[in-house]
Amino acid sequence: MPQHTPTPAQWAALEQAARDAARRAYVPYSRFAVGAAILDAQGQIHPGCNVENASYGLANCAERTAIYSARVLHDLQEIVAVCVYTPTATPTSPCGACRQVLNEFGPGMLVRCICDGSERIDTTLDVLLPHAFGPKNLSDAVSPT
Ligand code: THU
Repeated sequence: MPQHTPTPAQWAALEQAARDAARRAYVPYSRFAVGAAILDAQGQIHPGCNVENASYGLANCAERTAIYSARVLHDLQEIVAVCVYTPTATPTSPCGACRQVLNEFGPGMLVRCICDGSERIDTTLDVLLPHAFGPKNLSDAVSPT
């Protein structure tokens, strides 16, 4: 059943999945572990962690790992909410690249960022990425005159 507002139990499960995923982070270079979990419109939760590389620029963020994994394993279509966890004192919000990739699957999704401190960020992707570039921009395109 498609849904757009996570229940408290779903939020709790999403948070736990993000915390668990951070333990899988492969971060020998930055030592900055990130766990993410996305909730799709069918109510399924998909985890991801950051995976770094000796060629530093090829690091894949936790949020994008979650999306790509969910797409190939579970045919992800629409994201309702994402939770990002970092083992830090203050919460970490998604990087610019991840905001763009998240936008593709849910421009209005809820975004929750949690950490080991009491502070958290609760916002939406359209606040984090205003005036986003997305699929509609491409479908609107006509030949230049
Ligand atoms: N990182 C994420 O996984 N998600 C973000 O939104 C911010 C940055 C990762 C990438 C890299 O492995 C480490 O954090 C330090 O930048």
